[in-house]
Amino acid sequence: MQPIQTRPAGPFAPAERAAVYRAIRERRDVRGQFLPDPVDPAALTRILEAAHAAPSVGLSQPWNFIVIRDPGVREAVRAAFDRANAEAREMFGEARRALYSELKLQGIREAPLNLCVTCDRTRGGPTVLGRTHDLDTDLYSTVCAVQNLWLAARAEGIGVGWVSIFREGDLREILDLPAEVTPVAYLCLGHVRELFDGPELQARGWAARRPLAEMVFADRWQGRSATPPAPSAPAAGEADPIGGRGA
Ligand SMILES: Cc1cc2nc3c(=O)[nH]c(=O)nc-3n(C[C@H](O)[C@H](O)[C@H](O)COP(=O)(O)O)c2cc1C
Repeated sequence: MQPIQTRPAGPFAPAERAAVYRAIRERRDVRGQFLPDPVDPAALTRILEAAHAAPSVGLSQPWNFIVIRDPGVREAVRAAFDRANAEAREMFGEARRALYSELKLQGIREAPLNLCVTCDRTRGGPTVLGRTHDLDTDLYSTVCAVQNLWLAARAEGIGVGWVSIFREGDLREILDLPAEVTPVAYLCLGHVRELFDGPELQARGWAARRPLAEMVFADRWQGRSATPPAPSAPAAGEADPIGGRGA
């Protein structure tokens, strides 16, 4: 057996750690602030490499990245969004419909690049290590790739918006996806004029971030610990790492 190479497992240097937390804190879903400036191909490659470095069940790497520049394809995707969005609007009660109509929920035309991240549900064969008892772990792996991509893009100064308001069949047809390939994320990418400080849906009064303390249970569903988890203390000289810990 070849010796397995290892490397030190300690924490990053403070500035490196701060940069990681900054990317997490300042990542935003972008819809309305795209600039037409082209994305540097080298930066796109780095972002795709980050996505491709994601964890995946049994190392199956079930993702593909369809880079979409063709205006005809994008127009077809935009029309599919419009159809689904009209349906989506009707699913909300009357009180929310007006606000829903005002929200900008995609940047398909404005963003210089669109990207569809797919999951090949047959990648790795019929029996994949780790997927034996939960078939959806390939989808979860693909979502890990999307999150890596989103964070790397933030570090590169490139905004990303996730558009999920489609009938799946429409995307399949437009992008020629075979039956075994599921579209997981349709993303709009590009440089941005400015970023919101927090989620746009919060700024527009649609929803609000919840405090972390509401999300953490001890030992079982809704288990309350006698001592709630202490707030994460910033390391010496660092700002609050994630910021959005509170409401
Ligand atoms: C799986 C998924 C699907 C999403 N679909 C849409 C969408 O169709 N349209 C949209 O405007 N935002 C979409 N978003 C973005 C969320 O609205 C956004 O992440 C959330 O409001 C928090 O804002 P932030 O990402 O800026 O922190 C989606 C996000 C995820 C993770």
